[in-house]
Amino acid sequence: MLSGKTILIGITGGIAAYKICELIRQLKKSNANVKVICTPNALNFVTKLTLQNLSQNDVAVEEFNIKEWKPEHISLADEADIMLIAPATANTISKIAYGIADNLLTSVACAFSKKMIIAPAMNCNMWNNDAVKNNIKTLRSRGIEILEPENGFLACGYFGKGRLCSIKKIFDAVIENIKYSQLLSGKKVVITSGGTIEDIDPVRYISNYSSGKMGFALANSAKQMGAEVVLITTKDFDAPYKIIKVKSALDMQNALDYEFSTSDIIIMAAAVADYRVKEYSDQKRKKTSNQTITLELVENPDILKGLCEKRQNSQKKPLIIGFCAESENLIENAKTKISKKGCDYLIANDISRTDIGFGSENNEVTILDKNGGMKRLEKASKSVIARQILEYIDE
Ligand code: PMT
Repeated sequence: MLSGKTILIGITGGIAAYKICELIRQLKKSNANVKVICTPNALNFVTKLTLQNLSQNDVAVEEFNIKEWKPEHISLADEADIMLIAPATANTISKIAYGIADNLLTSVACAFSKKMIIAPAMNCNMWNNDAVKNNIKTLRSRGIEILEPENGFLACGYFGKGRLCSIKKIFDAVIENIKYSQLLSGKKVVITSGGTIEDIDPVRYISNYSSGKMGFALANSAKQMGAEVVLITTKDFDAPYKIIKVKSALDMQNALDYEFSTSDIIIMAAAVADYRVKEYSDQKRKKTSNQTITLELVENPDILKGLCEKRQNSQKKPLIIGFCAESENLIENAKTKISKKGCDYLIANDISRTDIGFGSENNEVTILDKNGGMKRLEKASKSVIARQILEYIDE
C-alpha cells in the first residue's frame, strides 16, 4: 500500500520519541520511503544514528541557522505525500498553529500543503491547558488530523490523558490517509466559488455575501485527495493548483465552458447572481433630483442548469454537483431545485443563519442526490464539510 509513497516524520522533544522507531520499522516493512526531521530536543530521547539506520535516509536536524540553512530542505515538504508529527509537544503544536517557523521541522510544516497528521504527547495538565486546546482546534479547522493522546501513567509520574496514542493507531492513520490521498487521483475537479460581481457602472456593482470559503475548502480537499483541481473564483486565493479569477456570471460561464470537456467532476459552490443590469453605464451614473431611480435588470444564464443540459449531448459526462442557498423551507426548496437543475447532487445550506453559510468558517449541509437520497452533515469547519462531501460523492 505504501510503496512509492514518502512519509515525512517530524519528531519533537518528548519521552515518547523512542516509540517512533517501531513506527518507522513498520512503515519500512510496508515499503514506504521514510524521511525523518527532528527538533534538536528530540535527540535527547532518541539518537540520530538509530533513526538513520531504521529509515535508511539521512535525518535532518537543524536549529534555524542561516549559514547552514539549506533551502532544498523545504523540498522535503514537496516530495512527501504525508507529514506526520509524533510525538508532538505543546511547543511545536503552538508554533504550527501560529505559523512560527523557527527550526527546520516547523519551517517544513509551514511549507507543507498536503495531509498532515499530528500525534500530541505531553503532561496531562498541559494537554488540558486552554491555549493548547485552542491550538488543537485551530489545527483541526485547517483539516489537520489530530490523533488524541491516551489516558495512562505518564513519564512525569502523573496519571491522565497525555500518553502518545498507540503506534498501531498512527500506522493505521497513515494508511487511511494514503488511501484518501488517492481517492480522486486521475480525476479533474472543477469548482466555482465566491459571489459573482455584476457591474452597474465603473463604480458600483451588484454582488452578495459569499466569501468563496466553501468552494476554496472543496478545492483544497480535492487537491489533498489527489485530484487535478481548477478553482474558478471571484475571490483572491493562493493555492497549489490552477485558479481562474472571474467577475461576472457570464465570465464564470465562459470559464466553465472552457474547462467542461476535460472535467470529471464539476462543483458549483459559487453564489451566482441571477440578474445583471440590462445596460452597463460606461460613466458613473449621476445622482438625479428624483427621489428614486430605476435599475432595469435582465436574467443571467442558469449556469448549473446549462451544464446539466450540455452534458446530455456531450461525450464527456462529468459528475455535476450544485449548491442550494435557502433562507426557509431548505429541504423542500432543495428537492424542487435538484430536479429543476438536473444535477447529480445538491448541497443544501441555510444561509439565514450567521453561524454557517455565507462568510462563516463553518457550514452544516444536507446532501441530496438525484435518486431522492439525503445525507445530513452536522455543523463543522468548511474544510471538514468539504472532505465529507467529496468522500460521499466518491462512494
Ligand atoms: O462562499 P461562502 O462564504 O463560503 O458561502 C458558501 C455558500 C453559502 C455561498 C455556498 O455554500 C452556497 O450555498 N453556494 C451556492 C449559492 C447559490 O447561488 O445558491 P442558489 O440556491 O442561489 O443557486 C443554486 C445553484 O445554482 C448553485 O450551485 C449556484 O452556483 C447555481 N447557479 C445559480 C444561479 C445562476 N444564475 N447560475 C447558477 O449556476
